[in-house]
Amino acid sequence: MPLVLITHTLPERWLAALDGHCRMLVGPADATRLAPELEAHLADADGLFTLLTIPVNQALLDRAPRLRVVSNMAVGVDNIDLAACTRRGVPVGNTPGVLTEGTADLTMAILLAAARRLLEANADARAGRWITWSPTGWLGADLNGANLGIIGMGKIGKAMAERARAFGMHILYSDPQPQPELEAHLQATHLPLDELLELSDFVSLHTPLTSLTHHLIGEPQLRHMKPTAILVNTSRGPVVHTEALVQALQKGWIAAAALDVTDPEPLPPNHPLYSLPNCLVVPHIGSATRDTRRAMAERACLNLLSGLRGERLPFCVNPEVYAQNI
Ligand code: GLV
Repeated sequence: MPLVLITHTLPERWLAALDGHCRMLVGPADATRLAPELEAHLADADGLFTLLTIPVNQALLDRAPRLRVVSNMAVGVDNIDLAACTRRGVPVGNTPGVLTEGTADLTMAILLAAARRLLEANADARAGRWITWSPTGWLGADLNGANLGIIGMGKIGKAMAERARAFGMHILYSDPQPQPELEAHLQATHLPLDELLELSDFVSLHTPLTSLTHHLIGEPQLRHMKPTAILVNTSRGPVVHTEALVQALQKGWIAAAALDVTDPEPLPPNHPLYSLPNCLVVPHIGSATRDTRRAMAERACLNLLSGLRGERLPFCVNPEVYAQNI
């Protein structure tokens, strides 16, 4: 039976589809790198089941000559050197679709939390600073009538736009591909990035992390935003230049940020972002619902099994790997 390395311990029922199809070596639940006990078996591994925190690079591939499939339990694949996998003829799978709604929900949740200053309000209530109903206390921003700028109008961007429409927001978006049918459906306006930043009351990031989106939001972009604007990031941390964001929040270039992803990740406990009352940070939980995570694992199992059988992965991010084998 083929050998599969599973980088992290996951609930057994999430991996039930693999039973009887492969031998599994499983890493610890909290692994921050490929565990040494798995590394030692790279030479014999036929498949690799990874999470987004594990880099899959040329060095790893060189140590895994038998590898026939990499299955990432995530939609983002920025932890994987796709070109290196393709060169080696290794298909890479991801888990699109099943985490769209959950991630959009979380985006809306942290947008609302920042807009209505829930962190500060909750801290003040617990600390006894809730003296009376305060007409000027904890004033936040309205969603109704506000402009939401969505950067990256893929599946999650669209799901976010749907939610925002229900809250009465106007949708602006920036994406390499304008989508006229969407513009009609959501009354969304396609804009160049600079214009979107200038006009938006909220900016929400939904791009994959690539060489083109790395530090897409840096000092010039933050200075372009309204001083009342709120930045929301549930995509990938390095899409935002962290030091520039700290400055923007300290100096009032923007009003607040709500982050599900950071750079670095995890953010160390003494990081300046944690000391800012106008910055909400949650630990990369966009897809963290019971049903979503189980569905992601099931999709990752499907990809893995297909790869082990030499079949085309149902969700393959480097399909060119098949063209080159013909
Ligand atoms: C989560 O961030 C994912 O890419 O699935």
